[in-house]
Amino acid sequence: MGAPYSEKVMDHFMHPRNVGEMENPDGVGRVGNPICGDIMEMQLRIKEGVIVDAKFKTFGCGAAIATSSMATEMIKGKTIEEALKLTNQAVAEALDGLPPVKMHCSVLAEDAVKAAIDDYLRKTTGKGLEGWKPRSETEEHKH
Ligand code: FES
Repeated sequence: MGAPYSEKVMDHFMHPRNVGEMENPDGVGRVGNPICGDIMEMQLRIKEGVIVDAKFKTFGCGAAIATSSMATEMIKGKTIEEALKLTNQAVAEALDGLPPVKMHCSVLAEDAVKAAIDDYLRKTTGKGLEGWKPRSETEEHKH
């Protein structure tokens, strides 16, 4: 049997980066996959439009943990605009791929980043991301 997960996925699953929480985060996003019940929470520290720190907690499968870990690494140091362009495919690619049946787990990571930015914008400008809804709650899943 071939290994279903890349070395990078296993590394981020076994040694997730940026796990935990911060004091008074500027933006908090919590998203869940209604099918499997997995939940991800992302906290961001944002200074002058730049994400200077990111922390996450994921109550979920290995792929969800690995993708949230990688997503925090990818958005740190990025502007809000750049972070909003982060797709779940890009996160999965950065991990050298995910098995097709686990791709939906990476959607949680993309959603959690966007949800945290949405929260930040609501708090600071009174207006969130226009027309945005978590994909994990609107797309169909095949488990
Ligand atoms: Fe639920 Fe991966 S996020 S199985």
